[in-house]
Amino acid sequence: MCGIVGFVGKKEATPILLEGLRRLEYRGYDSAGVAVYDPERGLQVVKTKGRIQVLADQVAARGGLRGQVGLGHTRWATHGAPSDVNSHPHVSENGRIAVVHNGIIENYAEIKEFLQSTGVHFASETDTEVVAQLLEYYYHGNILDAVTKVIHRIQGAYALGIVCADCPDRLIAARKDSPLILGFGEGFHVLASDVTAVIEHTREVCYLDDGEIAELTADHCWVYDAYLRPVEKERRHVDWEISAAEKGGYEHFMLKEIMEQPKAVRDTISPRIQDGRVVLDGVELTPEYLKNLDKIYIIACGSSYHVGMAAKYTLERMLRKPVEVALASEFRYCDPIVTPHTLALVISQSGETIDTLAGLREARRLGARVLSIVNVVGSTIARESDNVLYTWAGPEIAVATTKAYSTQLAVVDLIALYCAGQMGTVSRAEYDALLAALQAIPEQLETVLERREEIQYLASIYFNHPSVFFIGRNMDYAVGLEGSLKLKEISYLHSEAYAAGELKHGTISLIEPGTLVVAVAGCGHVFEKTMSNVVEVKSRGADVLGVTVDSRREAMGRTVDHVLTVPDTETALLPSLEVVPMQLFAYYVALMHGCDIDKPRNLAKSVTVE
Ligand code: F6R
Repeated sequence: MCGIVGFVGKKEATPILLEGLRRLEYRGYDSAGVAVYDPERGLQVVKTKGRIQVLADQVAARGGLRGQVGLGHTRWATHGAPSDVNSHPHVSENGRIAVVHNGIIENYAEIKEFLQSTGVHFASETDTEVVAQLLEYYYHGNILDAVTKVIHRIQGAYALGIVCADCPDRLIAARKDSPLILGFGEGFHVLASDVTAVIEHTREVCYLDDGEIAELTADHCWVYDAYLRPVEKERRHVDWEISAAEKGGYEHFMLKEIMEQPKAVRDTISPRIQDGRVVLDGVELTPEYLKNLDKIYIIACGSSYHVGMAAKYTLERMLRKPVEVALASEFRYCDPIVTPHTLALVISQSGETIDTLAGLREARRLGARVLSIVNVVGSTIARESDNVLYTWAGPEIAVATTKAYSTQLAVVDLIALYCAGQMGTVSRAEYDALLAALQAIPEQLETVLERREEIQYLASIYFNHPSVFFIGRNMDYAVGLEGSLKLKEISYLHSEAYAAGELKHGTISLIEPGTLVVAVAGCGHVFEKTMSNVVEVKSRGADVLGVTVDSRREAMGRTVDHVLTVPDTETALLPSLEVVPMQLFAYYVALMHGCDIDKPRNLAKSVTVE
């Protein structure tokens, strides 16, 4: 979603803003802009539909933008089509106040009508412009006063960056439900939607909380609450290496991140296994608490939800407790049955997905304890959870998640083992076998990755199939969901995932000669059942690409057109291996279609609007 970067200091702002915007490109955007305060010419704005390079070219064509304070923005259109005029920054009618915004101002129509009745003319169709115009309306010489009045008047989600020409040595920021960080340096301050935009300049950051306002000059940073009372903020050091946010020789971030999975999973599990036991420091899952647990409610979106689907099978089998998996966007409005004995397991790579965050808050309001699995350290979901288990995947830049998904699965497996150990629901032998199998996953992932040429070859055979169905049962179904999402999001092919046994209840009518079916069949106890469904689609003319474990290659090969295999492992861990051929297949198909793999159309990395 929209990306914000701001700079105030003793250097030229424009190169820093443009570089920051490039680093935020991965969030997904359709237009971009910058506003810089030039001491001789006042506030200067350049904004355009299209890529950052188009913006940079326009800035260069004007001979650059001079000034040491400024804002940059990448826009992912919500209100008003992508266009030059709808791009941010938006400026008040008299050109005094420039604003960039991430989020949605829900009551913008009513405010716009009000401002129009006072004679204000609007240039764009956006909700954001009302913030710029409303700031001007409330501005009587003190920009902070105007900001507090505005944040009490607007409803919805916002991260705001503001520059006022009357106080051109400072940036103002405000936040509610959309992420915003402040970065501290020698003689400068930055603000940004996430750390990737600023780690080149500083690793000392703090996270603004809801309702807070920040005022930044080159040498000072003040944070206030919504009534301008000073707030003390804790600074954090960011460990991520800048190289982690670069392609390192790979053609795409997605491929780099797929290849990083063995390391990411190793980094995630190793520190949490000591002396043959899973150790989850700081997580309050005591035997007493677990005994009284009535339900685990998993809340997530997209691929994180698919991790939840796989987790349900593992957790229910190992803990014998009911597990419900909810799409966060549904959970928040479904009047869920949650009690103080419910554990809400919230899964999110970014830690900022607005629906997931709202689901977390709803679960807490209803009395649940919240344990979250999050990749971005210090993100809002991490901060608002009772306990957090971080995935140590490092920054994930490609829009399509891969290594975050794998590390989320690994954390689920750790939780399952930990709780089963606390509750005594699995035998010591089963526990040991599962733990050993989990520790073997990074090496087995390397084996799967070594087979990528075979996957590339199969992608070259199947890439032109216009419609693809993924089928599987049990954990294999959960993997199919993720395989299907990967394919559609980056290659734009139509694809659907079905529980294999469900196909004949309607969807099989879509199978005709030439339809591609990807059959995932690693789970031993349902292998024969899935193979019966494969026979059903084969006899209707489908081409079938099978995915199974090494030991069933031959058995599957007798029925399907091609087979891809992964090393054998415990059933509970199959998704960790099976997902990799899915990721690579989607990647190579998208490559053959010439798609913009790291920045697929219409998608955003961090979905901070409903
Ligand atoms: C798909 C993908 C999305 C995210 C979803 C949730 O490849 O990345 O479906 O999984 O938007 O995002 P997080 O995990 O950041 O809450």
